[in-house]
Amino acid sequence: MVKRETWRRGKGIVSVNAEVGLETKVWHYCNLYNCKIGEHCVIGSFTEIGNGVKIGNYCKIQSGVFIPEGVIVEDEVFIGPNVVFTNDLKPKAIPCLEYYAGEKGWICTLTVIKRGASIGANSTIRCGVTIGENALIGCGSTVIKNVPAGETWVGNPAKRIRYGFLKRIKIWYHKRFGGCPIWCPFKFWRKIKSVILKYLANHSEQ
Ligand SMILES: CC(C)(COP(=O)(O)OP(=O)(O)OC[C@H]1O[C@@H](n2cnc3c(N)ncnc32)[C@H](O)[C@@H]1OP(=O)(O)O)[C@@H](O)C(=O)NCCC(=O)NCCS
Repeated sequence: MVKRETWRRGKGIVSVNAEVGLETKVWHYCNLYNCKIGEHCVIGSFTEIGNGVKIGNYCKIQSGVFIPEGVIVEDEVFIGPNVVFTNDLKPKAIPCLEYYAGEKGWICTLTVIKRGASIGANSTIRCGVTIGENALIGCGSTVIKNVPAGETWVGNPAKRIRYGFLKRIKIWYHKRFGGCPIWCPFKFWRKIKSVILKYLANHSEQ
C-alpha cells in the first residue's frame, strides 16, 4: 500500500481496500474495489476494477475498461480502451436457485490474462478463458476460447490469424526441409546408430 498522493490523480475514486503499487498512475473517475494493482501500471480514466481482481506490474490499462471480480491479469499486460471482461457465464437479474446454488446467487468464473499479452481496443473476453503469454487479440474481437501463448487472434468469435514464434519456425522448417526441427536430430541419430550397429555386427562376425 502506498500513500494516496503518489498514485491518485484528478478525480479517481478508490475504495479503501484497494492496494495500489508504487509508481502506478490512476487517472480520472476510476472505481477500484478491493483489488490489488501492481507497480508501475497505468490505469486510464473511467475504468472499473472489481472485487478481488489482481493486476500485475508494468500493466497498461486504457480508458473505459471493465474488469470484474474473477479476473487475474499478470505482469506487462496491455488492455486497450473499452475492453470488457465478464465473470458470469449465464447471468440473471434474479438468481435461479437450481443453477445458482452459491452464496452470492451467481457463479464467478475465472479468467486469466498471462504475462505480456495484449488485448486490442473494444474487445470482449468471455469468462473462463486463458489468454496465453504474449498473445495478441485484435481490436473488436470476442474471445470465447483459450488463446495459446504468442498467437494472434481476431474477430467474433476470435480465431487464430498467426501462430506463435516457435510454431512459425516449425512450420517454415517443415515446408523447407520436411519433418520437424526437434525430431530431425533424433532421426539423424537413429540413422547413425543403425549404421554403427550394422558395422559392429559385421565386424564381430569376422
Ligand atoms: C490484430 C492486428 C495486430 C493484426 O495486424 P496485422 O498483423 O497487420 O494483420 P493484417 O492487417 O495483415 O491482417 C491479417 C488478417 O486479419 C484480419 N484482421 C486483422 N485485424 C483484425 C481485427 N481486429 N478484426 C478482424 N479481422 C482482423 C485482416 O482483415 C486480414 O484478413 P485477410 O488476410 O483475410 O485480409 C491488428 O489488426 C489489431 O487489431 N491491432 C490492435 C489495435 C488496437 O486495438 N490497439 C489498441 C491501442 S489503441
